[in-house]
Amino acid sequence: NYPRIDFGSQYTQLIARRIRECGVYCEIYSYDVDEAFLQEFAPQGVILSGGPETVTVGETPRLAEAILDLGVPVLGICYGMQTLAEQLGGRVQASAKREFGHAKITAERPSALVGALGATQMSGADVWMSHGDKVIEVPPGFVVTASTSSAPIAAMEDSERHIYGVQFHPEVTHTANGNALLSVFALEICGCKGDWTAENIIEDAIAQVRQQVGDDEVVLGLSGGVDSSVVAALLARAIGDQLTCVFVDNGLLRLDERDEVEKAFGKESGIGNALPLKIKTVDATQEFYAKLAGLEDPEDKRKAIGNTFIDVFEREAKALPAVKWLAQGTIYPDVIESAASKHGNAHVIKSHHNVGGLPERMALGLVEPLRELFKDEVRQIGLVLGLPKSLVFRHPFPGPGLGVRILGEVKPQYADVLRRADAIFIEELREASLYDAVSQAFAVYLPVKSVGVVGDARRYEHVIALRAVETIDFMTARSARLPYDFIERVANRIINEIAEISRVVYDVSSKPPATIEWE
Ligand code: XMP
Repeated sequence: NYPRIDFGSQYTQLIARRIRECGVYCEIYSYDVDEAFLQEFAPQGVILSGGPETVTVGETPRLAEAILDLGVPVLGICYGMQTLAEQLGGRVQASAKREFGHAKITAERPSALVGALGATQMSGADVWMSHGDKVIEVPPGFVVTASTSSAPIAAMEDSERHIYGVQFHPEVTHTANGNALLSVFALEICGCKGDWTAENIIEDAIAQVRQQVGDDEVVLGLSGGVDSSVVAALLARAIGDQLTCVFVDNGLLRLDERDEVEKAFGKESGIGNALPLKIKTVDATQEFYAKLAGLEDPEDKRKAIGNTFIDVFEREAKALPAVKWLAQGTIYPDVIESAASKHGNAHVIKSHHNVGGLPERMALGLVEPLRELFKDEVRQIGLVLGLPKSLVFRHPFPGPGLGVRILGEVKPQYADVLRRADAIFIEELREASLYDAVSQAFAVYLPVKSVGVVGDARRYEHVIALRAVETIDFMTARSARLPYDFIERVANRIINEIAEISRVVYDVSSKPPATIEWE
């Protein structure tokens, strides 16, 4: 019973995250959501997202009548406002020219919603515009509440029926006080309580998991990443020793990673104390390297690593005969992504390694307590559950690990060198307080030979590339503008401390056209 989003724009996830930051639960559905489902979900309000289409031609997405029939407040953003205007009897004008960027907004009359943008209510606040079409006549019952120089109807409302529309994007940070607008909508206009907090999420999740699994045993693949670690901590609290974690060392982990995971959940961590966490560490290094021998193609390597993981994990889980459930760290963006790819509009650039197919193969039920959560919420509950900050805010690490950071064939001696180079880079980033300023940073092993001189000796060895990126969603990214002196220091340390490396380069490619990982 909370607000919810409908159409499909690049900002849709952001709207849901912003609403949740107000302490209000929010889910995303396609605009053609089923009426029976809507009734059962019983939202307290609905937000219609923007979208790439135009309402000025037929056959484009329209608001389901059932949403208006719910009688709850509705807020249309951008395309959402245009479809409201068009469907309720106003007029929308097509335009080939897009308005994109900041605009000054002027309040046309008092409005609780638009007033939230600026203290004076008649404010001149900066809002973010990204649209072509615009509303040129509001529907009967509506008034214009704000304008900009290029969009005379920048906001409209029917405060009687509680239907609102804004042409600008309150969800992006470029809109000053956009959060305040969404908060007024969710808390005041919809009357939601704002009690979606980390503590409540944990309580809910614990109750749900207990109800779902009863006295059954559960197995979890613990990778040391944020998501599976949070699941482990959560399940430790919910079901204690009914949980067994399997940690597979594939020989492609970062330096000391195995020790760190064991330490994070060990006796002294506080997590293992209350309810001792059973971790079964499996050293499968040999098996992974055997499967990778001779493979050079990135997709072949990914498949080999993914399949070997499934083999190893399945074998280990089968050795725990009482297990009936498989716990996974699936989070909400994974759910949205796989729904999008079912609709056929997501492009597979790289096959991502996960344990897809495992539950069916093993005839296990699935426990996915983070399925409804965004990454920032997962981190928040991780902290509340007592996981160390260093783990909770650790940069993402790909499932295939160093396997996709050693170009071409993966060899144990390359992995060993890469681990040491990567550790130097990360250590220096932390030392310079730059680690949290970048979204992801790592070293890549390039098995090409290059000449160097170290001391008086000629060195003819391989190359390390350093990669650091800034990104919000990992779909697009730019290389981090790390200080030159810093990069130079890291490069010198790597060449001086690692005899197998003769040269270090810094990768300045953006995504797109490059990807974040090299393979
Ligand atoms: P790319 O290289 O596609 O990476 O720009 C985007 C983000 O995804 C991570 N990544 C992976 N994560 N399994 C994962 O779990 C994978 O196979 C995989 N490949 C890339 C990458 O580290 C970056 O954060």
